[in-house]
Amino acid sequence: MNTQVLPATAPEAAATAAEIIKNGGLVAIPTETVYGLGANGLDPEAVAKIFAAKGRPQDNPLILHICGAEQIEEYCHHIPQAAYDLAQRFWPGPLTMVLPAKSCVPKCTTAGLPTVAVRCPDSTVTREIIRLSGVPIAAPSANISGKPSTTTAQHVLHDHNGKIPLIVDGGASRVGVESTIVDLSEERPRLLRPGGITPEQLKEVLGDLIVDKAVTAEVAKGETPKAPGMKYRHYAPQCPLVIVSGSREKAAMYIRNLYQPGDRVLCFDEELPLYHGCDPLSYGQEADLESLSAGLFSALRELDDPKIHQVYARCPEGEGIAFAIQNRLRKAAAFHIVDAEEVLPPLCKGRCPEGAEGL
Ligand code: TXA
Ligand code: MG
Repeated sequence: MNTQVLPATAPEAAATAAEIIKNGGLVAIPTETVYGLGANGLDPEAVAKIFAAKGRPQDNPLILHICGAEQIEEYCHHIPQAAYDLAQRFWPGPLTMVLPAKSCVPKCTTAGLPTVAVRCPDSTVTREIIRLSGVPIAAPSANISGKPSTTTAQHVLHDHNGKIPLIVDGGASRVGVESTIVDLSEERPRLLRPGGITPEQLKEVLGDLIVDKAVTAEVAKGETPKAPGMKYRHYAPQCPLVIVSGSREKAAMYIRNLYQPGDRVLCFDEELPLYHGCDPLSYGQEADLESLSAGLFSALRELDDPKIHQVYARCPEGEGIAFAIQNRLRKAAAFHIVDAEEVLPPLCKGRCPEGAEGL
């Protein structure tokens, strides 16, 4: 199959994509978070193609992409006022809500759960594709399962060239990490995955918010978290990745002591001079957290290279979008974090980065 890449600005882009969706095919769609691999979310055969193309485990449900709050009732019931309040404030945007599913939503979309996830993406062309298709579009991140998510049309082409008919190219995804998922199907709202809408923003509307334990800690073997996808070690390059926390200088000393040719350092723009000779790769500025979230997956994909032995990664501290970046990087690291402040003293006799000798 020839994979066509159509710019979102092409006049025929939305209609061509909608035609494929209506006929039960797959289309890669741009969104502000990451690119999705979309199909008719009400058609079990179309949905099965998504799972096959991604190599996705069947127990991992899909998000239905819809045009706006007025469509929630078509696919969900027992909708609390909070869902409308959140939609009013954050849609279109990087927020997914989990609500009790109506029976029109097939079991393969929900992976047999009694709930369904819905989101209205902030991409004009993608909302137009949904509208013209006349169906909700089920779309996971377009990456092959287990690989870092896709934030450009080129990433999607790399993973699916020759396997899907169309990629709509809307440029690089603005947010760069997947949507925030909040479960509204139980008495208390629960954050299942952090993303572009921060816990602080959610609390402004909801008042109350439980953070699911799978957000901050490794899921035990055999356990299924509330968002089944959170149990998988994705986002990770092929080689081991360790997060090194602590001050810039201490982290650089620690990493430079261990660095071997063939290793890579994933760091912030501001830190590049500290890693001279260590093949550093920056994913954005520490002073601009949005640049880090936007750059994270591109960087992780670049590091997904069999020639690399080990990645040392720096992760921003704090709240807001930093919380989502921490979640993705910790999962990529299989929760392997070293605090350079604690482990450094015995190692400090080794090479010190320029400018850090006096520490
Ligand atoms: O930003 C995004 O959300 C992107 C773009 C394409 O919209 N989509 C995305 O989909 O990240 P995916 O499939 O890669 O991640 C969806 C996550 C998975 O962890 C899945 O388990 C969870 O949402 N999920 C889906 N339906 C659910 C449900 N009914 N209850 C709990 N978790 C659910
Ligand atoms: Mg995904």
